Amino acid sequence: MNLIERRLTTSPKVLPDVSQLGFGQHFSDHWFYSKYTKGKGWHESAIAPYGPIPLDPAASVLHYGQALFEGMKAFVQPNGKISLFRPDFNIRRMQMGAERLCLEPPPADLFIEGLEELIAVETRWVPKEDNCALYIRPTLIGTEPFLGVRPSREVLFYIILSPVGTYYSKGTAPVRIWVEDVALRAAPGGLGATKAAANYAAGLQAAVGAKDKGYDQVLWLDVEREGIEEVGTMNVFFVLKDEVVTPALNGSILAGCVRDSVIQILKHEGMKVSERRITIHELIEHQKSGNLLEAFGTGTAAVISPIGEIAYKGSPYYISKGETGSVSRSLLKTISEIQRGLAPDIFGWMRPVNPR
Ligand SMILES: Cc1ncc(COP(=O)(O)O)c(C=O)c1O
Repeated sequence: MNLIERRLTTSPKVLPDVSQLGFGQHFSDHWFYSKYTKGKGWHESAIAPYGPIPLDPAASVLHYGQALFEGMKAFVQPNGKISLFRPDFNIRRMQMGAERLCLEPPPADLFIEGLEELIAVETRWVPKEDNCALYIRPTLIGTEPFLGVRPSREVLFYIILSPVGTYYSKGTAPVRIWVEDVALRAAPGGLGATKAAANYAAGLQAAVGAKDKGYDQVLWLDVEREGIEEVGTMNVFFVLKDEVVTPALNGSILAGCVRDSVIQILKHEGMKVSERRITIHELIEHQKSGNLLEAFGTGTAAVISPIGEIAYKGSPYYISKGETGSVSRSLLKTISEIQRGLAPDIFGWMRPVNPR
């Protein structure tokens, strides 16, 4: 068991109005952090008042981009207790990403103990209302002050909490997608399969461009600008008449927790799910022939985000008449009910928060 010091705030914040939560705009009273130094190991773990991080201007994260994060959620259960959705998935993914970025991975017990203790201190920040959750942002950065490209010998692991409502301002209405055929989010052998902060910087310009053209998100293609990879910061699924297709994890796609959950649910319901390459040309053929019934993105933030339109080289292709399809609606209901403890946890995904 890790020693976690507790320094609690003497001036707690006023809770935000739940109807105005939005996404990632409010932060709780405290954060959890733990420091790693090569040769010394993990030390100095604490729950402390939320506030600025003292960081040397030469810190490796600021120059060489050693930054990685996770996104996960906690929910209030009908008995008033708080449960996490598949935390093992996120812990494992952060550990794999840390290896790729040459950052020291936080040990699983430190991660979960720090998180559970932080949530136990912040229970009033977990919203109870429908469509709301406590969003959890574990982060790992290189903090050693030096100039020169090599892995940082000092690392900071920390967790911040944000009560959230729906991800998109228009709620779960279908989104309009621009197929990006110039910029690339990630390439084979790169960082795409990790939640490296750099991936999000790489995607910003195209995302802004899509918004300027009136679209909500970008559909990312592979290096050949043909194979479909992801949608915005979500994995993507296409419901065809005889199968549900999601791009295979090819090394440049992030293996999403909700992606994995959707595959498990659909298979459990007896549907054929294919993890395979699907090109934009194949998708357009399916749309034209009436074989494409639905498309949706999956991710922790929005859970299921129906896609109503895809624009490729300026031509719009409508899906489900621009409305939310039945598979998207049913998946959102199934996952949300499991998360809120309103349906049996048949896949064993929920982990009650057990503070020490
Ligand atoms: C690039 C990218 N792809 C996919 C996902 C979906 O992953 P998850 O379902 O684990 O949230 C995310 C968001 O977390 C993401 O940032």
